[in-house]
Amino acid sequence: MSNNISLFEQATAAVAHIQAQTPLIPTVGIVLGSGLGAFADKISDSIAIPFAEIPHFPKSTVPGHSGRLVIGTLDGVPVAVMQGRVHAYEGYSPHEVTFPVRVLGLLGIKTLIVTNAAGGIRPGLKQGELVLISDHINFTDRNPVIGENDERFGPRFFDMTEAYSNRLRKLAAKTAEQSRFSLAEGVYLCVLGPSFETPAEIRAFHALGADLVGMSTVQEVIAARQMGIEVLGISCVTNLAAGIQTEPLSHEEVMETGRRVSAKFTQLLTALIPAIQGK
Ligand code: 6GU
Repeated sequence: MSNNISLFEQATAAVAHIQAQTPLIPTVGIVLGSGLGAFADKISDSIAIPFAEIPHFPKSTVPGHSGRLVIGTLDGVPVAVMQGRVHAYEGYSPHEVTFPVRVLGLLGIKTLIVTNAAGGIRPGLKQGELVLISDHINFTDRNPVIGENDERFGPRFFDMTEAYSNRLRKLAAKTAEQSRFSLAEGVYLCVLGPSFETPAEIRAFHALGADLVGMSTVQEVIAARQMGIEVLGISCVTNLAAGIQTEPLSHEEVMETGRRVSAKFTQLLTALIPAIQGK
């Protein structure tokens, strides 16, 4: 970010702008991935703020990421929904990519649900399947907490052993079961993109222990963990990875599958969020 004021001050300015528009204090933040934006329609008494209006917020340039912050309630739970996100491949720095998470953290969220579209690597994963992220591999060689550390966000060094909360994963699995579908778990590997991988890269990632591959999420999760926010990650397998599916990969396929799975995904989140709050 080109400004002279610190990241913390920038985030504080964004928080002030948001708080001037709603008295709600969100406890759960949700980041909606490619094609999964429809969940935001379930929010009651909502206000929607375009990213472009929020001070210092990065603006999404990808079709399918509409770029609004929706704040409202779901079954009485105050939530903040990022309808769209920005990615490193758009040219954004890790600080910019994670700025919205910083803002949600300062707004008061205790839980972050991150969702994404991913390519399936592990044999047996099916197009359209939802998968709980059990862990990640940061293959981007970037990290949002590089640079002088601002203790107001959290400590210089912090643990990533349980980056994706076991408690929330169990709750999500139970919620899915009640809706009569099962959720697999898998390790998500993040690349910068935007080119999809070659089949040789996918074989290498498989050997490294990756089940899913995508271009988002890990930077946001690192920033959230520094702030002590509990994280749940859900991938939608929008396609199988290169060499595993025989057809060429495309953004259209990613979006199409996302939309197709959107109802199931919305059902899961709608049941899960009250459960997270013990309702
Ligand atoms: Cl196959 N690769 C990456 N990097 N991102 C994806 C994907 C694949 N499918 C959906 N998103």
